[in-house]
Amino acid sequence: MHTIILKVNCEKPETAKIRSAAQTIKKGRLVAFPTETVYGLGADAMNAEAVRRIYAAKKRPLDNPIIIHVASKQDVLQLAKEVPSKAEKLMDLFWPGPLTLVLKALEKVPDATTGGLDTVAVRMPSHKVALALIRESGVPIAAPSANLSGRPSPTTAEHVKQDLDGRIEMILDGGSADIGVESTVLDMTVDPPQILRPGGTPYEELLEALGKVELHPSILARKRTRLAKVPSPGMKHRHYAPKAKLILVEGTLEAMVKKVQQIADSRKKAERKVGILATDETVSDYSADVIKSLGKRTDSASAAKNLFGLLREFDEEKVDVIVAESVPLEGLGLAVMNRLRKASGYKIVKAD
Ligand code: TXA
Ligand code: MG
Repeated sequence: MHTIILKVNCEKPETAKIRSAAQTIKKGRLVAFPTETVYGLGADAMNAEAVRRIYAAKKRPLDNPIIIHVASKQDVLQLAKEVPSKAEKLMDLFWPGPLTLVLKALEKVPDATTGGLDTVAVRMPSHKVALALIRESGVPIAAPSANLSGRPSPTTAEHVKQDLDGRIEMILDGGSADIGVESTVLDMTVDPPQILRPGGTPYEELLEALGKVELHPSILARKRTRLAKVPSPGMKHRHYAPKAKLILVEGTLEAMVKKVQQIADSRKKAERKVGILATDETVSDYSADVIKSLGKRTDSASAAKNLFGLLREFDEEKVDVIVAESVPLEGLGLAVMNRLRKASGYKIVKAD
């Protein structure tokens, strides 16, 4: 298959390009498109055969359900049985934006999209290209992140090309994603609502809006969660992983920096190419083959924006092992740390 790549203007998406992409969606084929979080791999959410093509292209496990993207609040009524008043409130406050709500599904949503669950995950993205594509297609668009399953999510069209060139019909190139981590997934079928995946909408803001929100215990887990009963199947699959092995170090700043260097040195003795994922404050303290910074320690938005791209860069430089610092859990830091923990396969070292 030849993958067509179209550069699109993010402020004023060109009508002809959006039409051509929408035609592809309507035909039951796949289009990767930019959103404010990461690039998505889109198909007509109501067409089971089209959605099955997503799983094949990504090599995604079949039990991992897919988020449905809509262009208005009204669109949700075609997908969900009921919209609780708390969900309505969150839509008013956070949509369009990086918040996915899990609701009871209508029967007509294909099992291919829900992974056979009786719930559906819905979000309205704020990216103009994404919104234009959904509107022009006239159908809700099912879209997981546009990477091969298990790889870091793509924040540029180039990342999508690295993973999916020749496997999908089209990529809309809208430059780099603003937020850089995926949406927050919030389960509205339980009370209080529970965050299944931390993401672009910070926990603190949801707490302020709702008064009470729970974090699924696996989010801060130091170990892989028991697989038997996870509410979000995505939780149990290997994720966000660069090809290199990643070791995550947690602790107070001084102890952490010392530990990171110690591990890097001992890995170096095993004649490995060693990378360090640092922050602006610490980057000049280290010596290793490749050293990269997520940004200022207090700037969780920049860590989120840089994370996935940096993990891919370590791979390009053929690093064998990445030793990563932790960042504070505030704001988008919770999402960043959740991705780092998963990427490490829970190889987490306590510095103190
Ligand atoms: O920002 C994002 O959310 C991006 C962009 C493209 O919108 N999409 C994305 O999709 O990250 P994906 O498929 O990579 O992650 C979807 C997550 C998975 O962890 C999945 O298990 C969970 O949402 N999920 C989907 N439907 C669900 C449901 N009905 N109940 C619980 N979790 C669900
Ligand atoms: Mg994903």
